[in-house]
Amino acid sequence: MSAPTTTISSLPYELLVAIAVAGQENRVTESDWGIGSTTSKSEWTLSQVSHRFRDVIVGAPALWTLIETDFISEGSVEILKLYFQRSRASKLSVILLEPSEAKDGLLRERVTEIILPQVHRIQRLKIVWDLDQEMLGPFRDVAVPHLEHLEIVYRGDEVAVRAPVAMFWSGASRLTFLKIVRSTLQLSPQPSWMASITHLELLGDYDPDIYLAAVTAQCPSLTRLHLDITYVPPDANRFHIPTLKFLYISIQDNERADYLSHIVALFDAPALAELILNGSHGDQVAFLLCLKSLPQSSFPVLTSISFICTGSCSCETEPGFPYHPLSPPPVIFPALSHLILINQCHAYSLIKDIFGPASHPWPPLKTITLGAKDNSNGSFEGLGAALEDAVKSKRQRGEPVPEVQLFRVVSSLEDWDENSPVDVERSW
Ligand SMILES: *[C@@H]1O[C@H](CO)[C@@H](O)[C@H](O)[C@H]1NC(C)=O
Ligand SMILES: [Zn+2]
Repeated sequence: MSAPTTTISSLPYELLVAIAVAGQENRVTESDWGIGSTTSKSEWTLSQVSHRFRDVIVGAPALWTLIETDFISEGSVEILKLYFQRSRASKLSVILLEPSEAKDGLLRERVTEIILPQVHRIQRLKIVWDLDQEMLGPFRDVAVPHLEHLEIVYRGDEVAVRAPVAMFWSGASRLTFLKIVRSTLQLSPQPSWMASITHLELLGDYDPDIYLAAVTAQCPSLTRLHLDITYVPPDANRFHIPTLKFLYISIQDNERADYLSHIVALFDAPALAELILNGSHGDQVAFLLCLKSLPQSSFPVLTSISFICTGSCSCETEPGFPYHPLSPPPVIFPALSHLILINQCHAYSLIKDIFGPASHPWPPLKTITLGAKDNSNGSFEGLGAALEDAVKSKRQRGEPVPEVQLFRVVSSLEDWDENSPVDVERSW
């Protein structure tokens, strides 16, 4: 007697669809969601397996909700219409890519005729544009009642002058995530149109002084903010963001020791719990942690700071970047208990000052995480030895010892964030 066999064609419909939907799921959660050619997508492949399969797949609206188009390549308009039809009334994730060449007026026309009638069901939208704003224009006065996630990415010429982007001025009442890369936003005359945003990313080059203040002022519920800051004038406006819990700032390389402090001092974020500074140098870290006051900012509940340097620098070997010792605990961060230093220059000196045998006690400090490259100044082994000494002497003196972790930085740090996995090599 032969055992009953299960083949794909004997699976129940619901299971087939569930499997296919599961296969799509990480396409929306990945940061580069969706980008790829239409014909390589699973719903196409699956719909060609067999007749029965085809009917099941085509009849499952959930499988036709990830839409991507450049409006121009062959068949794209037909494919687009097919997705809109097969997805029935489901919510959609849509990626619009501006083609490198298009006849004048064609994009405006296609967006208006094909996308706008469906815009009310779009939940996630990413627009990648590069030439002019022909593709964006039709969206200006539109309302998007279901839009939760919006990304606007400019990928064109570095020096091209681009006008601010104006979108969805009639309301995006569910929008919680907004990411704008290398573009700026023109604010709606209706001040509450961005009121539901909790997560905002402003990346690329822009003038933070006027723009950032105006945008953040329109987001009264903001809890997470990611920024690139390339330049700040000395008398810059400050940003008061009472709801902010998480702040990630990428700083353009700057040699002045007080530059990092200057940027942190721009923010008045009394609810901030976690701060990540990308692009810092050890002498700037020491300067910041030494400050005796920040006249107009306070960080009473800030518990975690990460200092990251993604590249390599010669601060430790070149004259002109003197390191000034610091003495804990840091007055301006009274609750700081998790300190993360990744690929920082002067790491050896920082560790000795913060935590070494001669350092002052810093009772709130609970964890120190240190990531270093093999070839870093002070070397991985050197840092390990310094930490070892520090822990020993703390124990001997009966002082509380924070949890210490040391890991080797191997991969590129460009995308490092607080969730990146680390391979801890030594811990105390
Ligand atoms: C960190 O800074 C580097 C260098 O400026 C940059 O290339 C990288 O994209 C930044 N990472 C993030 C997540 O902002
Ligand atoms: Zn440096």
